Amino acid sequence: MPIINLKDVSRLYGFGDATTVALEDINLEINKGEFVAIMGPSGSGKSTLMNVIGLLDRPTYGAFTLHGDNVEALKDDQRAKVRRDKIGFVFQSFSLLPNMNVLENVALPLAYQGANLHHRILQARTMLERVGLGDRSYFLPTQLSGGQVQRVAIARSLINQPEIIIADEPTGNLDSIASRLVMELLADIHKMGNTILMVTHNPELTRYATRVLFMRDGMIVHDEKKSLGDISESSENTKFFEETTNEEHDIAGVSAMLTVETDQGKYVKMNPQSTKKSRKPSVKRPTKKKKYKRSKKS
Ligand SMILES: Nc1ncnc2c1ncn2[C@@H]1O[C@H](COP(=O)(O)OP(=O)(O)O)[C@@H](O)[C@H]1O
Ligand SMILES: [Mg+2]
Repeated sequence: MPIINLKDVSRLYGFGDATTVALEDINLEINKGEFVAIMGPSGSGKSTLMNVIGLLDRPTYGAFTLHGDNVEALKDDQRAKVRRDKIGFVFQSFSLLPNMNVLENVALPLAYQGANLHHRILQARTMLERVGLGDRSYFLPTQLSGGQVQRVAIARSLINQPEIIIADEPTGNLDSIASRLVMELLADIHKMGNTILMVTHNPELTRYATRVLFMRDGMIVHDEKKSLGDISESSENTKFFEETTNEEHDIAGVSAMLTVETDQGKYVKMNPQSTKKSRKPSVKRPTKKKKYKRSKKS
């Protein structure tokens, strides 16, 4: 049984003319132990998908099950508990609590579980050592580098051993050395049998993944299984990142952004003038809630 299962999941924002279709009829099964990289242009729905799977958001339509349990049916407090116990989040910009030292930050999730103080400190220490920051335990977050903050944040998100890790552009703000450390850490966690979903713009990072999904306009347009260590071939195929030009999308006012690799290994937006993100539903959608206009008599 897949650990994550989405059936015809859609997520719409807004109403009427201002509706944005962030996810459209997503069907996706993810098995335990997969390391899934998710790619696609800005605005294609990657974060929305992560938020739905991570129980931070609910689908507008469709069914979502974790381990075969229909989590949609759960009440908010029950969902919060599943999220806390089973899911670890790593975001691009991570906020540690500024007034707590590194050790206290890492131990924080355990407090919600009611573990005793001694146990919490012991576990937080072990986890900090695993991310190579045992000697920074009593530093405040402001005394750390960006890469160190991200590793502390990862230590915190993994302290209660979640079986699903959701990382939305985890290395987005990091230099290449810090990125590498964070990726090696995620690879270790993957080796331990956990399931990882990671949004990235960097084809190089698909080496760590066993599967790569490509998103566009709220849909999964390509799904590729691959071997660990290889870069996904499709991740270097610009067709997945090109600006959409067909008529339907023109009507919808969609503008995807093309990203390319520069000498410095950075990703830049090629068409800065077309950064309009919101879009109206095109003539073909939304299919579930059609609006019929009365034809004018002339
Ligand atoms: N809270 C929100 N309210 C309205 N529109 C949103 C919201 N979150 C995301 N969107 C829209 O949904 C689409 C998908 O966004 P997102 O999932 O953030 O894309 P990505 O992570 O691939 O850049 C975009 O058009 C975005 O503007
Ligand atoms: Mg995003």
